[in-house]
Amino acid sequence: MFILDKLYGAFLGMTAAADPVKLMKQEVGKAAAALVKSGSIVGLGTGSTTAYTIQFLGERLQSGELKDIVGVPTSFQSEVLAKQYGVPLTTLDAIDHIDIAIDGADEVDPQKNLIKGGGAAHTREKVVDYLANQFIVVVDSGKLVDRLGSSFAVPVEVIPMAITPVTDAIKKLGGKPELRMGVKKAGPVITDQGNFVLDVRFDSIDDPVNLEKTLNNLPGVLENGIFVNCVDLVLVGEVKDGQPLVRQF
Ligand code: A5P
Repeated sequence: MFILDKLYGAFLGMTAAADPVKLMKQEVGKAAAALVKSGSIVGLGTGSTTAYTIQFLGERLQSGELKDIVGVPTSFQSEVLAKQYGVPLTTLDAIDHIDIAIDGADEVDPQKNLIKGGGAAHTREKVVDYLANQFIVVVDSGKLVDRLGSSFAVPVEVIPMAITPVTDAIKKLGGKPELRMGVKKAGPVITDQGNFVLDVRFDSIDDPVNLEKTLNNLPGVLENGIFVNCVDLVLVGEVKDGQPLVRQF
């Protein structure tokens, strides 16, 4: 636990004020945590923004202001953070619904469609987020785009034995796939499920609904990072005149 404490403690203890993006993430992550009510089953998203949500949920529980919540983690990372901050956990086998899920995103379009998977956690995130009665997305303003794919590639989780045929099939669809490589690890990123991730650039994503289905229909693809028609509320962290604020749409 010591190493994990060091890892995430250092990460969460950073001075947000020194960095406007971190400040936006912190404010929006906390704002979402403030919406969680006692007695709720909560989907716990993955990433640097929801890390603040999990931290603040833990603080609310510790102060006694929030009671009787259980979290459903979307990754190894969110599970570790929940344990660190004292948020009790459950699994999908033990519950019959999720009241609210809070998750980050890499891109958000005006229709609230998303690209997710910058942390390679989009498969579990999609399971948990889509099950939730209310799905809240937390982003800093830099994640807002007019059209999906403007700045971020679409992550596609692929089972290892199918990486060559899936790569070829994606090229035929007009995508430019790139195998995601590890950092401080030789070789590719391995997901929490033991698979590879292709980051796929498309010149233009005109129809995210169809592209999501088309990619998922390729044999060997487990899940892709396009999330459509599932978001109830987007909270956007901004900094105006040096002051953080959160708006919603
Ligand atoms: C994890 O795979 C992703 O879907 C994250 O939710 C997304 O990348 C947002 O991460 P940040 O909050 O770190 O920007």
